[in-house]
Amino acid sequence: MSKKILVTGGTGYIGSHTIIDLIENGFTPVSLDNGINSDASILEQVEQITGVKVKHYAVDLCDYDATRSIFEKESFDGVIHFAALKAVGESVAYPFKYFRNNLNSTLNALELSKEFGVKAFIFSSSCTVYGNVESSPVTESTPLMDAASPYGRTKQMGEQMIQDTIAENSLTKAIILRYFNPAGAHISGLIGEAPTNQALNLVPVITETAIGKRPSMSVFGTDYPTRDGSCIRDYIHVMDLAHAHTLALKSILDDQQQIPIEIYNLGIGAGASVLEVIHAFESVTGQALNYVITERRPGDVVAIYANYEKAKTQLSWEPKYNIEDIMRTAWDWEIKRSKL
Ligand SMILES: NC(=O)c1ccc[n+]([C@@H]2O[C@H](COP(=O)([O-])OP(=O)(O)OC[C@H]3O[C@@H](n4cnc5c(N)ncnc54)[C@H](O)[C@@H]3O)[C@@H](O)[C@H]2O)c1
Repeated sequence: MSKKILVTGGTGYIGSHTIIDLIENGFTPVSLDNGINSDASILEQVEQITGVKVKHYAVDLCDYDATRSIFEKESFDGVIHFAALKAVGESVAYPFKYFRNNLNSTLNALELSKEFGVKAFIFSSSCTVYGNVESSPVTESTPLMDAASPYGRTKQMGEQMIQDTIAENSLTKAIILRYFNPAGAHISGLIGEAPTNQALNLVPVITETAIGKRPSMSVFGTDYPTRDGSCIRDYIHVMDLAHAHTLALKSILDDQQQIPIEIYNLGIGAGASVLEVIHAFESVTGQALNYVITERRPGDVVAIYANYEKAKTQLSWEPKYNIEDIMRTAWDWEIKRSKL
């Protein structure tokens, strides 16, 4: 029988793309999302792509009783816990909002997974847990530094909650996935990043500027010690990222994971600078982007990219898409989104 997977944050950006990959790999995803940064209508596009109508619960994961009743009703084989608030700047301004939402939701998802004997628990973490690293590539054993924001700290604390609660004799095994910079959209152009709050990541800022939603955009500093002076990040296509969740689930459900908890970096292992990303956009779309070079932004890490060897060896995960694919799919989605 098809294994049933709870996807918290299922109508969000990465959650909705992962639902597609889960369906394509024979799983039955069930979505839970309170719509704080997404719209459940995205599941209509998911149905168009996959032919499957996904069951959805419009529930706040911080509401323990409402979440518990879902665990009682459904019998989950796995939980992928995406639901979180994720705006770094907002988290600095409203730390309690972030602690309350991200920690309580993780606590409930984790506690109920253990209580109901869910076999696999997958957690969305972030390269932000590494803090301001001194050198790249970053491996999973690179020591974690100060998280630099309440958002980052909620990811570090989420990881610690898992470390403290998933023990050797636990029925539940866990995987912590540390994403680098997810970007791009599904190849169909039917779904992509569609936050109800303002987009802050580089790729949607580029596409929104190009389509005219923003008059221009800023490149924050071109005097860093990098090859062209702008900051370097590791952009990973959202469908590559989505597929890593399916492989992570399988490694636990198929009893390949011997230890209670594993941690994997997910990036493509090569950094692209802000200016390189802009040039990739210009080259795949043939369109010049209106941007200005401004002062450095406080708190920006100079360069961070992943060593993903562990995910490659242990999960047989290999990214298929490059930065041009990311920009092409993100642009197709932006055009489609502007007509909605
Ligand atoms: N996108 C990135 O750049 C990035 C990078 C690293 C890690 N992550 C992590 O990946 C996960 C998914 O991120 P995303 O980019 O898809 O973000 P997103 O905002 O598109 O998706 C998160 C979803 O969670 C929902 N949600 C938030 N709090 C909730 C709650 N209490 N109950 C129910 N639903 C709730 C939101 O409505 C949203 O649909 C998050 O945990 C995020 O921190 C994202």
